[in-house]
Formats: sequence, structure tokens, C-alpha cells
Amino acid sequence: MALLKILQYPDARLHKVARPVAQVTDATRTLIKNMAETMYAAPGVGLAATQVDVHEQIFIADISELHDELRVFINPKIIASSGAEQCEEGCLSVPGIYETVTRFEKVTVQAFNERGEPFTIAAEGFLAVCLQHEMDHLQGRVFVEHLSQLKQTRIRAKLKKQQRETL
Ligand code: NI
Repeated sequence: MALLKILQYPDARLHKVARPVAQVTDATRTLIKNMAETMYAAPGVGLAATQVDVHEQIFIADISELHDELRVFINPKIIASSGAEQCEEGCLSVPGIYETVTRFEKVTVQAFNERGEPFTIAAEGFLAVCLQHEMDHLQGRVFVEHLSQLKQTRIRAKLKKQQRETL
């Protein structure tokens, strides 16, 4: 297993649109294991392949306190959604920034797991927010892009300054 490098906003590679996974293979499962190790080490509750510069439709999430409920989503699709809720979000690609975003309150997502088996999950609350946040990554969208242009400009400036200081 290996820790992967997480791309930092505003890296242009975070805006690539992920392609569907044609077949779930051992290479896919190795990537998922490495992504899980990277997410838990960070620590974070979700990680999309886009964030580790792999542009395939894969993300993982684990919102449990004990880090023992890893969920794997390959080629995910939202097949139903309802309501709206506001939740403060953060992202491993946007360190230190927490902002409120409006999302669907409930989503039903269809996807494949790491064995290539289809499943459907109905999520609400924080898990629903997390799934929508990660699916945005696969479309090349970072959560701060839901905010006003003014806020985005401020966040980019702050992060560029942080990145210069840590070089
Ligand atoms: Ni994120």
C-alpha cells in the first residue's frame, strides 16, 4: 500500500472530468486500497480518484468515527434526489477552508463496488452531502466553486499564499 499525493486547489487537474471505469480489475482495487490509506491518514471522510490525479469515476467515503465503514463507488449516478440542505464542507484538496454549500437533502445513488457488483444506496444528512461532494470531484468540480466569485478569488489567493509558504 502507498500514500498518494493529493492535488491542491487551484490545481487545474482537479477540473478534469473523470471517465467511466470499463472494468473493475486488480489495478482498480489496488488504487482503492491506496486511496483508502491516503484518506484515513489525512484524515478525511471522502476521497475521489480525481484528487489523486487518476481521472476515472471512482470515489470512497467513510463517515464513521471508527473508520470501519469504507464505502466504494465506481461509476456512480444520482438516480433520485429531493430537498435542500446547507452544510459546512471542507476538502482535502482545499486545506483549512470550510464553507457552507447548499446540496440535496436526500440522494439515491447507483454505483458499482470494488468487486464490480451494482448497488443502490439511499443517503441523507451528512452522507448525502459527502456523496454529492465526491461526485462533483468526478465532474471536475471542487466544492468552493459553489460559492460566489468573490469568495473563490479570496480562497485561491489564500491557498496560493499558503502553498508558497510551505515550499
Ligand atoms: Ni473534496
